[in-house]
Formats: sequence, C-alpha cells, structure tokens
Amino acid sequence: MSSADIDTPLLKAARERIAQAYDAELLRTSGVSIVDLLADHVRDVENCSGRVLNWNLPEDNIAEAERLLEEGDASGAGESPADRMRSLAETILSRGQNMQDPRYIGHQVPASIPLAGLFDAVASVTNSVMAVYEMGPWATAAETALINEIGRLVGYSEGTFSGLITHGGSLANLTALLTARNVALEECWQQGVPGGDGRPVIVAHGAAHYCIERAVGILGIGTNQCLKAPLDERGRMDPARLDELLQSLKEQNLTVIAVSASACATPIGAFDPLHAIADVCEKHGVWLHVDAAHGGAACFSETYRHLIAGLERADSFICDAHKMMFMPALCAFVFYKNREHRYSTFQQDAPYLFDPSAPDIREYDSGLKTIECTKRSAAFTLWGIWSTFGRQLFADLVDVTFSMGKTFHEKLTAAEDFEPLHEPECNIVVFRYLPAEIRGWNANEIGLFQLRLRRKLIESGEFYIVPFKMNGIGAMRCTIINPLTTPEHLDLLMETLRRQGRELLGDKNHE
Ligand SMILES: Cc1ncc(COP(=O)(O)O)c(C=O)c1O
Repeated sequence: MSSADIDTPLLKAARERIAQAYDAELLRTSGVSIVDLLADHVRDVENCSGRVLNWNLPEDNIAEAERLLEEGDASGAGESPADRMRSLAETILSRGQNMQDPRYIGHQVPASIPLAGLFDAVASVTNSVMAVYEMGPWATAAETALINEIGRLVGYSEGTFSGLITHGGSLANLTALLTARNVALEECWQQGVPGGDGRPVIVAHGAAHYCIERAVGILGIGTNQCLKAPLDERGRMDPARLDELLQSLKEQNLTVIAVSASACATPIGAFDPLHAIADVCEKHGVWLHVDAAHGGAACFSETYRHLIAGLERADSFICDAHKMMFMPALCAFVFYKNREHRYSTFQQDAPYLFDPSAPDIREYDSGLKTIECTKRSAAFTLWGIWSTFGRQLFADLVDVTFSMGKTFHEKLTAAEDFEPLHEPECNIVVFRYLPAEIRGWNANEIGLFQLRLRRKLIESGEFYIVPFKMNGIGAMRCTIINPLTTPEHLDLLMETLRRQGRELLGDKNHE
C-alpha cells in the first residue's frame, strides 16, 4: 500500500504542496535565475552604480516584509514559485547594504568574497550541520583541516594545539574565557562561581570589544570583576602596568582567570605587544587569551605578521574569518595552545548523540567542544575559497586593505580641513572633518557635527562609514575592509564629506 492510498484528501494536498518545495527542478530553475541576478548585482555594486546603503526607515522595511509574507500566504500573488523567488531576491537586494561597493568603508564586516556564498549555498541546500561527526563528516574534515593549517601558520607546534569554529567572535571569546574559567576554578562547573576571598576576576584590554565584558557577565564572574588593563598613549595594553595590576590582584587574594589582550582592539585598531604581555602572564601564572578577531588574519601576510608576534604564546585566541579573511558571516575560530584544554569547556554527556561504541570518533564530535549543539558547517566558505585560490589570496587581502589604512592617514594628514586622530596600525582609521567654519566651536559641538555629517552621508547612499567617539567627542571611523576600495575612492570620500559638510553648515546657518 503506498502512502497515497492511506492519505486523507487533506494529507494528499499537503504532500503535493510539500513536493513542490522539495522539487529539484525548481531548485535548478530558481538557482540559475537567482545566481544570474546575483552576478549582475555584484557587477553593478562593484562598479558603484547605485547607493551603498539602501536607506529605508525600519517601520517601512518591516511593513514591506510583512506584506510579502501575507502575499505568500495568498499563493505568492499568482506568480510561479520560480518568478516569486526571483522577485523576492530582488527585494532583498534592493533594500540591503551593498558591502561589495568600494564606497562601503564601514564596520569590521567585510565586502566578502562573493564566490564564497556559493559554498554557503551548498551548506544550506544540503543542511550540512555538525554536532557529531556522522552528521557532518565533510564539514568536520574541512573545519579540522583549517584549524590545523591556521594553527601552524600562527606558530603553534604540530600536534599540540586544538581549535574549533563557532558562530562569531562574541561566542568565540565566551567559549575561550569559559575554558579559562573552568581551568582556573576546577569545581566551578558543578559548584558555581565562588565569592569572597579568592573570588575570580578577568583583566581585559582597557578598550576591549564589549563582548569580553558581556562574557564575564555570562560566566557569572560579574561585570564589576572585568578589570580594565591600563593602555599606553597608542591604545595598546601596557605590560609594565599590567604586571603591577596582577601583582596587586594577587595581594588582594583575587583569582585572575585570564588576561584578555587584543590584536587588535576595536576602536582604533591598536595591537597589543603580545610577547611582553605573555612574559607578564607567564610570570604570574595567568592564562593569556587574545581577541584577534580582526587582526588574526595577519598570520597570512609576510608584511603584517609582525603585528601578531607572540600570538603563539597565548593559551587561547580567537579569530574571525568573517572579518579579515573576507568570508560571509559567520565563521570564527577558537584556538587552544594546549590540546588538553579542548575538553575543559564543558562537561556533558548525551547518549542520544555521542556514541560510546565509537570512542575514537569522539574527538571529531564538535558538540563536545562548542556551545552549539547543531552547528552550521561554517568552514565550507573558507575551506572552499582557500582550496580554489590558495592562501596567498588571504595575504593579498590583508596587504591591500592594511596598506590603505596608511594611505588614508596620509591623505587626511595632508588635508588642512581633516584631522586624523591616531596613526593607524592596520585598516581602521578614525578622524574628524574640521573645516575653518567649525574650528572655533566647542568640542561637543564639533563632535555632534561629525555624527550629523556621517548620518547625512550614509542616508544619501554615497558612502558608508561609521560613527565613533574619541575621548567622548564625536568622530568618524572607517575600516577599509573592502579590497576594491582604492585611493581614488578615499579622495572621493573626502570630497563628498566636504560637499555634504557645506550643505549641513548651510542648513545650520539657516536654522
Ligand atoms: C576585536 C573584536 N572582538 C570581537 C568582536 C565581535 O565579533 P562578532 O561580531 O563576530 O561577534 C569584534 C567585532 O567587531 C571585534 O572587533
């Protein structure tokens, strides 16, 4: 008896609808059509033919998204599924941020390599996931191969280190700090975090990304116990003062779970002196963690590798492939110098998942080491692009974009009406636009002008850069994280800020 014989009319209709959603031929037709659309879109975006950011108010976007859902309930407004899918893809493209536009010079989210998206599609279409090896054998292989290669590139010794991929830098930092906490406080997993004498603290770079303090909160240590390590005049952790701080914490009988350094820190891209910090941590017997979400990719570059010298001495570090390896989000690495620590993060048993009859495979069950149970096969993109073009591409991407930080700084320095606010170590550049008309204003007014000018700029769609506060005063910040951005685009950015700045000042004069 076939299933059709026992199906009620309702179930028969349901099966017909389901069959359409699973139809391989519809996948082919829609796939070709959408890839075609995407290729045209990428070409146009790379040629700056439209706006960088398609700005719409949130309420308008949400109303449109709801309208389309309702249209879907009403059979997609009569369009065939293939046509409907294409028109929905057009909507997505027409209302989004266009990161491959060379005038996108914004957050630490890259103009990702468009081709990488095809490997993401393979992962999504097949729903290749991880947790246990047998659910994602190739995903596990690709992830393990990347960890081995990158670990060696960074300078960890063969066979001694371990790593994992997780969904983003925030989760990666949380995972590594959780491991550090459990190593420092062996009873903590079962007993909870101790208070009183010997209570734990974490010492973080004074301008660490907020996810570090958030992790300290999540770990039950308490954000008040996330102590800020003093910085030098260039925004880097100061090893001598770190030494003093660790000494004083020891005298107060506090347990230092970890020192969390940065390579580089988010605000101005300052790289901590990792060798000197590792010396201090070794002296005090403290776990060194490095948040290398942005700068870890310097390991590929002969020119910039020196910025992360000493990273191989860290007990743990993280690095986002969806930043300076130019992968689509999300793909973040956690590394442990000591392979033994890979099982210090969690203590869980799940007989429905981890097969006790195959202990040799256990090593490859990712769920034992990650917060996620089901985990997307996030390695496919990086593994696919690396296996196609080779590692030199990642060196090229770092070299080109980091060098543009210096170029932009030179341009800002040479211009009388701009003020660079630091000397960039990489591709993060913070500055203010200071035409003669506003030089007499007070600092808060100048800061507010920067923020208003930036908002005008991004809403116009002519460029995308981000707002910033330097010493509490508004400024503008660029991360040149698009390898297609050239010195000419940076000239145009400055010209556009001048023009829009004049317009803003004109409006202000008429207020
Ligand atoms: C230094 C640093 N660490 C962590 C993060 C957070 O990473 P994610 O956005 O992948 O969670 C960022 C984000 O910009 C960062 O700059």
